[in-house]
Formats: sequence, structure tokens, C-alpha cells
Amino acid sequence: MVNSNYLRLGVNIDHVATVRNARGHDHPDPVDAALLAEKAGADGITAHLREDRRHIRDRDIARLKDNLNIPLNLEMAATSEMQQIALKHNPHAICLVPERRQERTTEAGLNVVGQLTVLREYIKPLNDKGCRISFFIGTDPNQIKASAEAGAQVVEIHTGPYCEAINEGLDNVQAEELRKIITAAYQAHELGLEVHAGHGLNFQSVREVAAIDIIKELNIGHFLIGEAIFTGLQEAVKTMRQAMDEARPVQ
Ligand code: PXP
Repeated sequence: MVNSNYLRLGVNIDHVATVRNARGHDHPDPVDAALLAEKAGADGITAHLREDRRHIRDRDIARLKDNLNIPLNLEMAATSEMQQIALKHNPHAICLVPERRQERTTEAGLNVVGQLTVLREYIKPLNDKGCRISFFIGTDPNQIKASAEAGAQVVEIHTGPYCEAINEGLDNVQAEELRKIITAAYQAHELGLEVHAGHGLNFQSVREVAAIDIIKELNIGHFLIGEAIFTGLQEAVKTMRQAMDEARPVQ
């Protein structure tokens, strides 16, 4: 897409794999879901290969890489095992996330400040292979500054606290969390980072985030896969696309 105002939609297909794994067979296939999302207008596919392989598995990454015509964004923890896997498959983008086995989903942003030197070294070989590196972080200005210093090309801002505030009807918290996202997005942009956002977004919460014109990409998973039960995945992706376009009309 040539338009600089365009907001990309990355569809996270992890939870198709969660349903598949519940029965231990091959259905539903996350790669088939990724191809449907592509057909419906997704600009990229995101998959999180967790240490415990609770949803996406190694073979899924290989098949996604072989079959997709749109970029693959591999989410992973900054471990040496994941670095080897990423170097083998060479995804278009890598989003580094913190990972705890007990968590239900990625709960907090990466602590870049606390491991700046380690992360700087960690991403070098991945950058050398041509992968764009993104850090999934909260809105703390120190984490954003450290992300630029560590050499990331992108930061993905954690929208979870904002979405939670909406879900719980906490209007003041919602306004404050949105303000923090906007401030963080502009700080990152001024430091030369590309800005993405994601976590917990749905048809409602996506609107204010999509309206922040400095943000280039949203990554959305759980809600879309859940919605697909009722409307089908293509319809869910198209409706999300429409909500994003209404919030940020393409110029
Ligand atoms: N971005 C990152 C870095 C994530 O870890 C996740 C969850 O896997 C998402 C986006 C998507 O969040 P959700 O599934 O809540 O839409």
C-alpha cells in the first residue's frame, strides 16, 4: 500500500491453533485461517511461538512462511532457542515479547531498560538477516527511549490497559490510558521508531487507537478469532478493516 496514511492490519492466528490443539489433531488449521485472513484484506499475519508451544508450533511457522503472500510477524521471547528458529525461517518481522509460562497471554511490555545491552546484541544477527525488529512495550517513556537505543526499528505499544478500562467501564482510566498511548506513540516516532499497537482490541476499542495517525500497524488476534465463530473469519477481518478505515479515512 503506497498511501502513507494507511494503517496496516496484522491478524494474529494463535487462537486457531489453541482450538486445534485442544483435540491434538490438525483441525482447525491456523495456516488455512491465515490464508482466509489474507483473502479478507489482512496486511500481515502474526503468530506467537511460545516456549511451551501452547498454540503455534514449529511446523506452523514453516508452513506460514511457505504459504503466505503477505508478511509474517513472528512474536517470540528473546531466548537463544527462539533466535535460532527465527534465523532459520527468516520472517519479515519479529516482535520481542516478555513471556511467563503461567500467564494467560502477554501481560506486560518488555523491560528494555533492564536488558538494553543484551537486547542490542540479541537483535543484531536478526537484523543482519533482514528481519525488522519490534519491541512490545508499555507506555513508559524510559522503555521507549531504551528501545531506540537498543536498535529496534519498531515499537508495538501495549493497548491492553486501555482496552481493559473500556471493558470495565472506567471512563477516567480509559481517557488516561489513551493519553499515554498517544504520548508514547509520538515520542517513539520522534526517536525514529515505527509505531505499532495491539492487545485486547475489538471493534469498539480499535477506533480511538486507529485514529492516532502516527501508528502504522495494529495487531489483533483473540477478538477476531472469537468473532469468527459467529460471522466467519473473513467477515470479522473485513468488519475490523472497516472500523479502522472509518476511524482513519484513507487520504
Ligand atoms: N501484540 C502482541 C505483542 C501480543 O502479544 C498479542 C497477543 O498475542 C497481540 C498483539 C494480540 O492481542 P489480542 O489477541 O488480544 O488481540
